Amino acid sequence: MSGEKFKVETKTITADFEDRETIYSNIKAGLEGLEIGILVNNVGVSYSYPQYFLEIPELDKAIDKLININVISVCKMTRLVLPGMLERSKGVIVNISSLAGLQPTPFLTIYSATKAFVNFFSQGINMEYKKRGVIIQSVLPYFVVTKLSKIRRPSTFKPTPEWYVKYALNTVGLESQTSGCPAHDLMAWFSKIVPTWYSKKVMVETALKARAYHMKKLKEN
Ligand SMILES: NC(=O)c1ccc[n+]([C@@H]2O[C@H](COP(=O)([O-])OP(=O)(O)OC[C@H]3O[C@@H](n4cnc5c(N)ncnc54)[C@H](OP(=O)(O)O)[C@@H]3O)[C@@H](O)[C@H]2O)c1
Repeated sequence: MSGEKFKVETKTITADFEDRETIYSNIKAGLEGLEIGILVNNVGVSYSYPQYFLEIPELDKAIDKLININVISVCKMTRLVLPGMLERSKGVIVNISSLAGLQPTPFLTIYSATKAFVNFFSQGINMEYKKRGVIIQSVLPYFVVTKLSKIRRPSTFKPTPEWYVKYALNTVGLESQTSGCPAHDLMAWFSKIVPTWYSKKVMVETALKARAYHMKKLKEN
């Protein structure tokens, strides 16, 4: 398929990242002969709403799903494209972590832990390969207006994806770890300077409020 507007050729490979057994050989076959210059590991899922670990519906399935989609995808996709980038001594890999990966986030525990993995993986592998011409960046957004966040109205701290990406792209090659935009930089800075006991208290209270709100909505429907 050709992208007429931008005068580029595009190729689509369909993959369900929940399935870690077969998709990567299909993706590898689909990428055969292509020079991959940029990989954005954006795929991600979270909970429907903040929940106690043992309350998550179909917990075993949910654990596999979050780990396959949020963690395994990042390692396996990197594994597929990095050798070609190293051969050509150029390439960019952008991994989308989250501010929830900077500190443990109660009631979104598995999500938060998967995003901490993405952040650590990105930073470690960046240190291994940065001298060989490949840029590997960890992006840690706060809220963005998307299907995942369920936020509908944009605001200064909750930008649209278009607005957020415009800022975040300007950091590639300059920051190996970034919040992506000034408002989220401020949130990250703020989360570092508030006393830990206070941020833990606020996180638990906020999550419990959101949980109560969603449970009430579910009962009403
Ligand atoms: N939005 C935020 O506030 C926020 C904050 C911090 C970090 N993030 C991170 O940003 C990244 C993008 O999320 P988003 O907010 O843009 O959410 P989103 O709109 O739900 O996008 C997630 C993307 O992942 C794809 N996806 C989900 N499950 C998949 C699967 N099993 N197989 C293949 N593709 C799948 C979705 O495809 P479909 O559209 O086909 O479902 C969608 O393109 C995620 O890694 C997320 O953790 C988001």
